[in-house]
Amino acid sequence: MNTTLESAIRQLPERGYLEIDIPKGTDLIYEINKLRKEKNAVILAHYYQTGNIQDIADFLGDSLQLARAAEKTNADMIVFCGVHFMAEAAKIVNPTKKVVLPDIKAGCSLADSCSGEELRAFKKKHPGAIVVSYINCNAEVKAESDIIVTSSNAEHIINSIPKEQKVIFAPDKNLGRYLNEKTGRNMILWDGVCVVHEAFSMERIAKQIYENPEAKVIAHPESSKEVLSLTDYIGSTSNMINYVVNDPAKEFIVVTEEGVLHEMRKKAPHKKLIPALVQDESCSCSECFYMKLNTLEKIYLCMKYELPEIIIEESLRLKALKSINKMLDLSKNVK
Ligand code: 13P
Ligand code: SF4
Repeated sequence: MNTTLESAIRQLPERGYLEIDIPKGTDLIYEINKLRKEKNAVILAHYYQTGNIQDIADFLGDSLQLARAAEKTNADMIVFCGVHFMAEAAKIVNPTKKVVLPDIKAGCSLADSCSGEELRAFKKKHPGAIVVSYINCNAEVKAESDIIVTSSNAEHIINSIPKEQKVIFAPDKNLGRYLNEKTGRNMILWDGVCVVHEAFSMERIAKQIYENPEAKVIAHPESSKEVLSLTDYIGSTSNMINYVVNDPAKEFIVVTEEGVLHEMRKKAPHKKLIPALVQDESCSCSECFYMKLNTLEKIYLCMKYELPEIIIEESLRLKALKSINKMLDLSKNVK
């Protein structure tokens, strides 16, 4: 176990976070609140974080809401409880703020599936196409893209592009295929997937539907075509939460990362929520390994030592900002 700050910092790139002993009995919530005040920090958290992290957030939201919150904040430090591409987007839109991520290894299979260099080569194969990228991508891919979208605003933004315009959609092929169907387009799809949503089992969910005939099935569009064919509603995390709250049904089979159930339970405590089952029968969970790397201990340490910090080279940031700003402009009316 590391006890000195120096050796913890040396090991940070490999480890992903500062491993420093925290004295037994430390009240982490109290200390985090203290640091939040002292450092004028804001804690932004995604719905896929663990419940105890969601509960300490100043702002909880989906990818679009978090990007907007990051852009608007007056805090000096943004503590991003989510994954790397989200914290990076926060730094891109608000560069004068210090952005820290509790565990720098909190990545994403979608972001990992596509590099800036690979996308540049792909663009060469499809001359004349503009690139619409899902926000789940790294800064280099954002810099190579014309417009960024999230699951909340993608359909709206794609509908605003002239029909005759050739479009490459990266990196999520499931979301891209779903959007092609919704918008009647034929976007060229990058071959990336979310490992969490790919793991859901059509057969096991069909059995859950049979066993819970009153339940409505709601899913995130990162899910496969087969799984989406079983659903009553498809939407972003925030839209799924709103659906559970507003729909008269009393039972829901929820096909997305299980962290979202925390907010659903809070907002609709009387409703029955059934997490959808994954292919691996030894495990009933649908957790995103990357999202779950963040912990209260790591949040405390990253606030105290202001590490790991998100740093982006300025010319790359400016290029990536263009495609994010396009998204923010085009989706002003999307909630
Ligand atoms: P949304 O919260 O925008 O629906 O995105 C889900 C997601 O995949 C985050 O990693
Ligand atoms: Fe990436 Fe999927 Fe995890 Fe979201 S849930 S961060 S898309 S791997």
